[in-house]
Amino acid sequence: MKKYYIYTYGCQMNVHESEKISGFLVSRGYTKADRVEDADVVVFNTCCIRESAEQKIMGNIGAMKPLKKKRKDMIIAICGCMSQQSNKAASIKQKFPFVDIIFGANNIEYFGDYLDEYSENRKYLEKVVEGNYQENEVQPTFIRDNNLYAYVNIMYGCNNFCTYCIVPYVRGREISRSPEAIYSEVKDLIKNGYKVITLLGQNVNSYGNDGNTQITFSQLLETIANFEGDFELRFMTSHPKDISDELIKVMARNPKISKTLHLPAQSGSNKVLKAMNRNYTIEDYLAKIEKVKTAMPNITLSTDIIVGFPGETEEDYSLTVDLIQKVRYHNAFIFMYSARKGTIAAKMDNQVSLETKHKRINELLKIQHEISNDLFASLVNNQIPVLVESEDGDWWIAKAQCGKVVKVKKEGDNLIGKFVRVNILAYESGDLIGKIV
Ligand code: SAH
Ligand code: SF4
Ligand code: F3S
Repeated sequence: MKKYYIYTYGCQMNVHESEKISGFLVSRGYTKADRVEDADVVVFNTCCIRESAEQKIMGNIGAMKPLKKKRKDMIIAICGCMSQQSNKAASIKQKFPFVDIIFGANNIEYFGDYLDEYSENRKYLEKVVEGNYQENEVQPTFIRDNNLYAYVNIMYGCNNFCTYCIVPYVRGREISRSPEAIYSEVKDLIKNGYKVITLLGQNVNSYGNDGNTQITFSQLLETIANFEGDFELRFMTSHPKDISDELIKVMARNPKISKTLHLPAQSGSNKVLKAMNRNYTIEDYLAKIEKVKTAMPNITLSTDIIVGFPGETEEDYSLTVDLIQKVRYHNAFIFMYSARKGTIAAKMDNQVSLETKHKRINELLKIQHEISNDLFASLVNNQIPVLVESEDGDWWIAKAQCGKVVKVKKEGDNLIGKFVRVNILAYESGDLIGKIV
């Protein structure tokens, strides 16, 4: 039996696309290898959001050389956002001549065809399709990594062109999937016992703006939230400029929608937000957060922050600190700005030094860590819903909606795969301890 191994880098989109790739491989008789050494096909599903991601991936591809030398018949394929950048495929092949197939993020659904073609001719294949995401009529059966949590694409691409970001260049323009395709996929997942369904798009609030459907994101979300079954519904990502009153209402009135919201702020300074082309002011942002908190007092909020964007002064940075302290997110993903070739910000002449970026990120991480700790500690003596995922000795290992691990003392029936309400008894060394209500 032939085997495959996939390295996945980057966001949920890529995690999910690797499930698609697995589907194409399994339909051709491959099974998943536990170790890369045992694989006949090795796929690198890459990301290029920051320089550090690219460097790591290039290092890992390079590390395949000795293995490929020993096992000449091993097929090495590179795909995803990194290979979608212009001229990147040629430079990867030049650096790593042992690579057999390079294809882009847009034509991932055609991987099966490429594999067939390569297997027949054994000649290097380069298939990077410029433009937008290409759907394939031949849909694989996804081989999902987890049997409780599932991702469902609702759209591809991004139209926003935040000045720092490479995504619109590699992922093309927004394309919405048809509501019918989404509904039928979600219904199947619920029927097959998946408990948490996350709708994916770079900016889910623009769902339908391309004219592919008349249904808005809020309508799509509410329709799914009304499906029968025991499940929870999540989505990501929402752009702050597009999050609507309607969406907040739909979230608040539908018990099946998780009371979690990831709303990337990026910066607390209006000057920086403008230079980033984010199209909102920090006042707009805070007003939306206020609305969300009023409609859903128990909401858990998370965000993305970039420090060291070109021209970010000490004062701009301190406004980001203010923002973090004002909103009090449960989680913040904080990144150092990384110049991406081809983006507008990469050409700005007021780049911030690496030393300053390090100083700012370290300080901000510390501040955020304390806020997160305080918020989790304040859950003690409160009841929250959790999903039990596994067991460990005397404990059920569960997760709260925000992703935090909750250890629940075992009692009664097997609860794996069940939603339960727990009373939080303690917060100890980073974990919440709960008791079933
Ligand atoms: N579409 C989503 C996710 C985009 S990528 C959104 O808009 O929220 C995830 C995060 O990576 C972004 O929110 C941003 O904080 C960060 N990011 C994107 N480009 C970056 C860059 N060039 N340098 C550092 N961080 C970056
Ligand atoms: Fe990048 Fe902005 Fe699009 Fe998000 S919304 S993917 S940060 S361009
Ligand atoms: Fe995601 Fe990285 Fe591409 S964050 S969209 S895999 S550049």
